[in-house]
Amino acid sequence: MKESEHSHPEKGAHSAVEGNLMNAVEIKNVSKYYQEGEFFVKAIDGIDLSISRGEFAVLAGPSGSGKSTLLNLIGGLDRPDKGEIFLDGLATREKSDDELTFLRLHKIGFVFQAYNLVPVLTAFENVQFILQIQGVPEKHHREKILALFAELGISGLENRFPPQLSGGQQQRVAVARAIVGNPAIVLADEPTANLDSESALSLLGLMKQLNKEKGVTFLFSSHDSRVVETASRVIKLRDGKIEPCGLPLPQQKAIA
Ligand SMILES: Nc1ncnc2c1ncn2[C@@H]1O[C@H](COP(=O)(O)OP(=O)(O)OP(=O)(O)O)[C@@H](O)[C@H]1O
Ligand SMILES: [Mg+2]
Repeated sequence: MKESEHSHPEKGAHSAVEGNLMNAVEIKNVSKYYQEGEFFVKAIDGIDLSISRGEFAVLAGPSGSGKSTLLNLIGGLDRPDKGEIFLDGLATREKSDDELTFLRLHKIGFVFQAYNLVPVLTAFENVQFILQIQGVPEKHHREKILALFAELGISGLENRFPPQLSGGQQQRVAVARAIVGNPAIVLADEPTANLDSESALSLLGLMKQLNKEKGVTFLFSSHDSRVVETASRVIKLRDGKIEPCGLPLPQQKAIA
């Protein structure tokens, strides 16, 4: 389904929408600190960032630059110490934990580095689980999931358990699970980190195809320069801050 402003569930006279509806995610002056003994680590340091609907963007940056922290904040797995995050135009700061969980369930799809599939559920059931908790009527599950498996090139693997699948196949099931509920954005923290380079590029190709053909918005992190090159936008983090234009400052000065 192509998203439009009309399909926005909270839009209307009594709307709680405060951000820009064209943005899947809007981050305003967000900071996150961790305490280490007497010191505070500024994991995210006053970031402003918008991800428009339909983007295919990568978070790049050295280890410790804040990529996972930022993805966890956007995904509502953690809360910022300062600033505002809007998901699909909805402010998250004043939300209770239950409200945030509800929002996460409907607006965010996650793909994790270590797959995070439930080992005692089949591939089909791992994806179906999301539809069940979203309250989608059971009669629609089979058709929807089988179509998705076909699109992702994993038809016939529905009844296998995760340990019976290769890393690349598990990651495709994880992508199916992430997009089955039509989220505003799919967040993926190093989705290719455990894959060989051929499987990594094949997974990226698939994500890009979903972005082009279905308009799925992606924000993923990666260390791998070949993976970073596939993105249409590179957001470069360093010490919890975004580097302007995604280029290191000396190169920007050289260009200017
Ligand atoms: N739970 C925590 N407690 C204390 N410090 C933390 C915690 N999580 C992250 N940090 C610190 O916050 C900073 C950002 O960490 P983060 O995991 O976001 O980096 P990253 O860019 O994802 O790194 P990597 O590429 O290694 O995954 C680092 O200095 C890290 O040590
Ligand atoms: Mg990380």
